[in-house]
Amino acid sequence: MTGGREHLKKLASGAVGLDVEYTLATGEKTRRVYLDSTASTLRLEVVDEALRRYQPYYSNTHSVLHFGAKLSTQEYRWTHDMVLDFVHADPAVYTAFFVGSGTTAGINRVARTLREKRPDRDVVITSIMEHHSNDLPHRKHFPEVVHVPAEMAQTSIGRIDMGRLAEALEEHGERVNYVALTGVSNVTGIINPIYEVAELAHKYGALIVVDAAQMAAHLPIHTTNAADPARSLDVVVFSGHKIYAPGSPGVVVTRKDLFAELEPQEVGGGMVDDVHINRYLMTSEFPDREEAGTPNICGAIGLAASLYALQRVGMETIADEEREIVERTVKKLAEIDDVIIYGESDCKACERAGAVSFNVRGLDHALTAAALNDYFNISTRNECFCAHPYVREMVTEVLAEEVEDEDELERLAELHRGMVRASFGIYNTLADVDKLAEAVRHIAANKAFYEENYERQKSGDYIHKTFEFEPARLFSVRDTVDHWLSNSRA
Ligand SMILES: Cc1ncc(COP(=O)(O)O)c(C=O)c1O
Repeated sequence: MTGGREHLKKLASGAVGLDVEYTLATGEKTRRVYLDSTASTLRLEVVDEALRRYQPYYSNTHSVLHFGAKLSTQEYRWTHDMVLDFVHADPAVYTAFFVGSGTTAGINRVARTLREKRPDRDVVITSIMEHHSNDLPHRKHFPEVVHVPAEMAQTSIGRIDMGRLAEALEEHGERVNYVALTGVSNVTGIINPIYEVAELAHKYGALIVVDAAQMAAHLPIHTTNAADPARSLDVVVFSGHKIYAPGSPGVVVTRKDLFAELEPQEVGGGMVDDVHINRYLMTSEFPDREEAGTPNICGAIGLAASLYALQRVGMETIADEEREIVERTVKKLAEIDDVIIYGESDCKACERAGAVSFNVRGLDHALTAAALNDYFNISTRNECFCAHPYVREMVTEVLAEEVEDEDELERLAELHRGMVRASFGIYNTLADVDKLAEAVRHIAANKAFYEENYERQKSGDYIHKTFEFEPARLFSVRDTVDHWLSNSRA
């Protein structure tokens, strides 16, 4: 085994919560299979270790006077270098800065800034595949947002339609500020050709903003392309909680010139050189300009620890390992009668990373997900994953094979809007995939049993008629504090 694969094995087996057990509707107690990493990954033990060892020295940054402040400031600075290195961004050209509440905060900041920076370019092109976080910020800050559809032709169903993207760029030309595109769909796991899109957008003077919320944990990112600058990315945004770190620091990697010579969107301490009662002088230094206030120091350190650990493995190695898991999932689910897989199922022609969404024909997605949890201890997620237009389109595409009447098609698409998503992290194994396939096979073959045992709620969720899960028996913050206060000595 190479060094990278050896490290990967260690990191994977040390994921926190991998061995947690729950009691099921059958009365059995089993190990949970976590297939919800697209929402948030489990944390890595090495990240907890880095944070634990840092805690005694914890101090605010923005000072190098006392020992703790020196150490914190130095390590916090390093987290930025680590981010740039991880996404292969040339530090002479790019900066990285942290924002609150994940990718969402990052994309909002980018939209506001680029609107101000390039006011004559008042159109954003995005795709129908996007998470609402890579759609609504553009709608809020720009008068016009164009949504390019996903391809529906065989061999690439679900990937951005490059022909339609080229048409949109041609039509809106010099008005296009940027193309905002996800690297990997959070619904189907389908990978978009972001470097090709960059090249195309740049021909029109448009920028490319990549939502790497899903991509970062699964594929290498090459922000700078020195050999072919047209294929470089202008802005890349992602979140700590989707790449094995605790909390949700968002991180923006951007060309510095795009944020320079503007008043930053957020102002306060830490980003000014001098303040008088009637004026203030902002620093020209990156990333300080973009990080007003006390930063989320522990969040940044946790994220950087994870990035460094993944870098020691090598993202190519991780992508190779995970490809096998995703391909096996598609293959195994496709073998089950009555299972619909969304998006192109030829993973060689149209690559996926990290996620596969499906439905059992005739069963509500919420019931399938509830049964997977309560009877098989498999944690998945259902509904529309904050990507309503794409889910509607993918569901309609499948229904259209069976229903000809347009009104009926629309009614059914609305009724069946939602999917079950199985998603993966470095800790998942082929055995997890086999367990999922076995469980889905059982559910598909015994629909009446599952329907009888659940009641549908107004919210659309399904609750088991007799089995109840009581979270507080496992953990509550109050009990933990009460217990500590009763059992610790002063
Ligand atoms: C593709 C994509 N973009 C953006 C987001 C939003 O990320 P966050 O919740 O970290 O703000 C998500 C979250 O699921 C996502 O999957």
